[in-house]
Amino acid sequence: MKAIILAGGNGSRLYPLSKVSSKQLQAVYDKPMIYYPLTVMIAAGIHEFCIITTPHDLPRYRALLGDGTQWGIEIHYRIQERPEGIAQAFVIAEDFVADENVALMLGDNIFFGGNAFPQAVSTFKSGALIFAYHVKHPNQYGVVEFGADGQAISIEEKPSVPRSNFAVPGVYIYDRQVVDIAKSLKPSARGEFEITDVNRHYLEQGELQVSRLNRGFVWLDAGTSSTLQEASSYVETIERRQGIKLGCPEEAALVRGFLSVERFRALLDTIPHCEYRDYLAYVASEAERQQR
Ligand code: DAU
Repeated sequence: MKAIILAGGNGSRLYPLSKVSSKQLQAVYDKPMIYYPLTVMIAAGIHEFCIITTPHDLPRYRALLGDGTQWGIEIHYRIQERPEGIAQAFVIAEDFVADENVALMLGDNIFFGGNAFPQAVSTFKSGALIFAYHVKHPNQYGVVEFGADGQAISIEEKPSVPRSNFAVPGVYIYDRQVVDIAKSLKPSARGEFEITDVNRHYLEQGELQVSRLNRGFVWLDAGTSSTLQEASSYVETIERRQGIKLGCPEEAALVRGFLSVERFRALLDTIPHCEYRDYLAYVASEAERQQR
């Protein structure tokens, strides 16, 4: 499976922070925001990525992430000229998707814990698989309603009167049909190609699975100044308490076997002396200890 990470948009809710830097490059505690979704997808076993961003921000993503070789992965880039909707990602990245299943992850969604995504990536066959997460204020999200048998029966984008408290987080897994479905969409009342319309299409075809994320699983979105601050505090709390890092793509690549311990060690030489490098050195010595 391949993955698209959507890192465009105009970040208007983060103004003036977003005036000079893309939203998904802002710091979430000690790393750029995009490190977190990238790490989640690497940890799920994906090694081919397409990052979609604005013409203005593309050079900065390239400078930060390169072509992924340093982490044993592949990163391609595509441009979205204007933020015309999340579903447009599949039209823009059609040649990247080719004939494969594809995961889409929103670059400002942050997840920790559990095995839901690795399991989903390794077992997915066809149709669409999305997730549901209980939140207090679902009306800012896609909202899914379940019938008595636990199957999804409706899905609505930002409803003023939500039919449930289950919001749809920004991780979606689709088969190749998604490109044609995305091409067939009409813009919504707010003028966007909506990911919820893609999901509704699969629901109507009887091909949408919705997996509920467990209690205790962490989903944060970091799209406003206060949620960005909350996400940073969360990461800082866990990192200080546990002495491990969240959202560390190098470590995920090592654990997944995309990087050997030797290549991981060589990577250290390219990083300036800092706390992040000290952590990677600790990860390398732990990996070496386990090999002995
Ligand atoms: O966070 C999950 C929610 O994300 C879902 O529950 C909703 O169903 C889905 O529509 C979406 O809602 P948002 O209102 O949060 O989407 P937003 O416009 O903030 O875009 C999410 C990310 O995608 C953000 O990092 C910017 C990026 N984006 C968005 C659009 C519309 C793009 O790169 N290009 C776009 O055209």
